[in-house]
Amino acid sequence: MKIFISVILAALVVFGVCFSSGCKKQENATYIAIISAMDNEIADLLKKADIKRVDNISGGEYHVGTLCGKNVVITKAGIGKIRTSSGATKLFENYDISKVIFTGIAGGVSDETKVLDEVIATDLVEHDYGIIRSDGFIWRSGDPGYGNEEGLYYHCDETLVNLAYTSAVEVLGADHVFKGTIATGDQFVASESYVEKLKNDYNALACEMEGAAVAVVCENYGKPYVVLRALSDKADGKAHESYSGFANDAADNSCKIVLKLLEKI
Ligand code: ADE
Repeated sequence: MKIFISVILAALVVFGVCFSSGCKKQENATYIAIISAMDNEIADLLKKADIKRVDNISGGEYHVGTLCGKNVVITKAGIGKIRTSSGATKLFENYDISKVIFTGIAGGVSDETKVLDEVIATDLVEHDYGIIRSDGFIWRSGDPGYGNEEGLYYHCDETLVNLAYTSAVEVLGADHVFKGTIATGDQFVASESYVEKLKNDYNALACEMEGAAVAVVCENYGKPYVVLRALSDKADGKAHESYSGFANDAADNSCKIVLKLLEKI
């Protein structure tokens, strides 16, 4: 009898720990993960979602519920590649995630794009990963110390990209939607000459600080992902001013597109 009670107590403790931390092993549900860098980039989604609980996992808030009839976990991971990698890893380690949508804002790089336009990433590249030599920066991935490998492009899921593109066209009109490469780095870009480099070296349409990080984590876990970015600025000398004026509206544009996208997945 004592053994039986001990086993029951142990099971209850394990269940309690797992449940309070949102442990995926205790749930049958599969979720679409929605990640952002900042609060304003998920604000509209959280207003519209039916949130059942908020799991606090190592300092990150994971909003668990439904949105457009889909099970979702929504989280703001923080700005930059490190915070994003950490936030995305916690998602995969704590929930059963079927696919990942990154929503947010970016700086426009292509001459064709305007502030508040949407860029859907077909692929992502880390523009700040490589070797710094006395004669300049060399873009590399793999083991940059050896410098014998070209940089990598990370490819978003084609089906999600096409659905996101169609959704964005429905929301903003075809003239305001682009798909192509987004360049990621741990820097807010506010420089015409660096914009030229991003265009010429990486063929980038936009730049931001998180996309490639979420891509790497999703690839490690073998899950499909897409990155949606509305432009708050043109990453030039006026970028800060433009960002202050347009960041919230741009963030809302991406949220509207996410809602359409969720209806289609
Ligand atoms: N996010 C929005 N604007 C950006 C910029 N100019 N550089 C990097 N990330 C951004």
